[in-house]
Amino acid sequence: MFETLKPSPPDKIIELLEMFRADPRQEKLDLGVGVYKDASGATPVLRAVKAAERRLLETQGTKSYVGILGDLGFVAAMARLALGDAVPADRLAGAQTPGGTGAIRQICELIKRASPGATVWHSDPTWPNHPAILGYLGIPTRTHRYFDPATGGVDFAGMMADLVAMKPGDVLLLHGCCHNPTGANLTLDEWREVTDFVVKAGVVPFVDLAYQGFGDGLEADVAGLRHMAAAVPEMLLAVSCSKNFGLYRDRVGAAFALSETAERAAITKANLASLNRLNFSFPPDHGAKVVSIILDDPALKADWQAELEAMRSGMLELRTGLADALRRATNSDRFDFVAVHRGMFSRLGLTPEQVRKLRDDFGVYVVGDSRINVAGVPAQGLDKLAAAIAAV
Ligand code: LMR
Repeated sequence: MFETLKPSPPDKIIELLEMFRADPRQEKLDLGVGVYKDASGATPVLRAVKAAERRLLETQGTKSYVGILGDLGFVAAMARLALGDAVPADRLAGAQTPGGTGAIRQICELIKRASPGATVWHSDPTWPNHPAILGYLGIPTRTHRYFDPATGGVDFAGMMADLVAMKPGDVLLLHGCCHNPTGANLTLDEWREVTDFVVKAGVVPFVDLAYQGFGDGLEADVAGLRHMAAAVPEMLLAVSCSKNFGLYRDRVGAAFALSETAERAAITKANLASLNRLNFSFPPDHGAKVVSIILDDPALKADWQAELEAMRSGMLELRTGLADALRRATNSDRFDFVAVHRGMFSRLGLTPEQVRKLRDDFGVYVVGDSRINVAGVPAQGLDKLAAAIAAV
């Protein structure tokens, strides 16, 4: 049977990760996959995670199954973290999922079940796995303008002009904060405008929130999302703990669906449970339990927030430092947007050929669309990196 299979190339981010690992050069620099790195280049286990894991090891009495929707305490804690009190709990159905990608996959399957004709609109560009999952499931997609390469900011007028073509019942996929790959984000006023649009147009927002706490802070990063959630009858939300809890390999995430009424939310919940059962049965427990322990314990939560804040401010310093170094190296303000962007990524605006030269000539790995992972920028090597970028 396998003779019928066609080659299945990995997506660009995974391919780059493999190329970096295979590069024997000592001097190589990984600005590719979105994984946080500290000043020494390590991705450490957070202190609060270590403490919660020790507690879990001591107290866990069974490895028997949790529920099909996962740990409901975790699901409620994630809803609080993302949405605060923006929506009534009885209108929200939630399911624990294996990571943020698992949440996106489950939500896409829910869209397909609930509204097979709906088109999902997403920004051009977006995280490559969004169109990949949607395409795999056969869900129709359209793109809208988002990024203005001339300014490095959001082309909001272009975005809103494109969205006019959306039909009632279509789905609008938005990045909750820290847009991946561009680093350019909607302002709160723009979130308000998009909210007015989705309400008037009868469009269902679907928010991917993978970087809460990496942009302007835990609360500031979700101000737009919360405004929207409070105003719309229906919404979909995927959350991830990979980045802000550093739990990448433990696969911790949740999928939420906000319904117009509690009765509909109960049916939606049953559908999320059935989709979990069909795709993987019970979601993995360890990381979710660790997150619940942290969020339920004021001291651990405070320590987690302090460490998250240190990661966030460290990335902001690297942004300013790199923008300054690029100013010196290019004698221009062309890259000043790097300091304005928020989150883990910035799109530099290099051509694929320049990206290849950066890799071949300087050992600097950035994603093919010239997305850099700011956390990978070396604080001690800003001028060297800026010189390499200027050279290509
Ligand atoms: C990224 O965009 O690099 C991260 O979200 C990791 C991934 O799975 O692609």
